[in-house]
Amino acid sequence: MEQTINFEVLDQAIKDYGNEEKALIAILQRAQEHYRYLPREIFPYLAEKLDIPEARIYGVATFYENFSLERKGKYVVKVCDGTACHVRKSIPILEALRKELGLSEAKKTTDDYMFTVETVSCLGACSSAPAVMVNDEIYPTMTPDTAVALINEIKEKEANA
Ligand code: FES
Repeated sequence: MEQTINFEVLDQAIKDYGNEEKALIAILQRAQEHYRYLPREIFPYLAEKLDIPEARIYGVATFYENFSLERKGKYVVKVCDGTACHVRKSIPILEALRKELGLSEAKKTTDDYMFTVETVSCLGACSSAPAVMVNDEIYPTMTPDTAVALINEIKEKEANA
């Protein structure tokens, strides 16, 4: 599924943070929030607007762990596998989600780019372990069944959208 990249969000970020190199990280952060990853198409665009080499932007994008260069699904599902969540059985949740969506350790995003399933080392919600986060929302004390039900709810909502 092709995705058209709209640069408006970058123009707005440049307006907000300035068109200098020191604004680069803030601009990339805004881009990551918007696209949920950093599409390659934005590198030449930003290089021109900020007047810095594309390779430098690419370097910053690959240096910081929070930036992703891989396209993700509309819904990014993060299964916490930090200690608190792991001991309360987060792995069966991860396995159930992967099975439901036909994903694996190697294949993290569905072909329709609807879901990405990944693990994180702590969501900062240890007292609600095991926790799952979908985009910006945390879902506490999950089980494999409630996690799959959540996915199905989202699928239903999308089908009726
Ligand atoms: S270990 Fe899972 S929220 Fe902290």
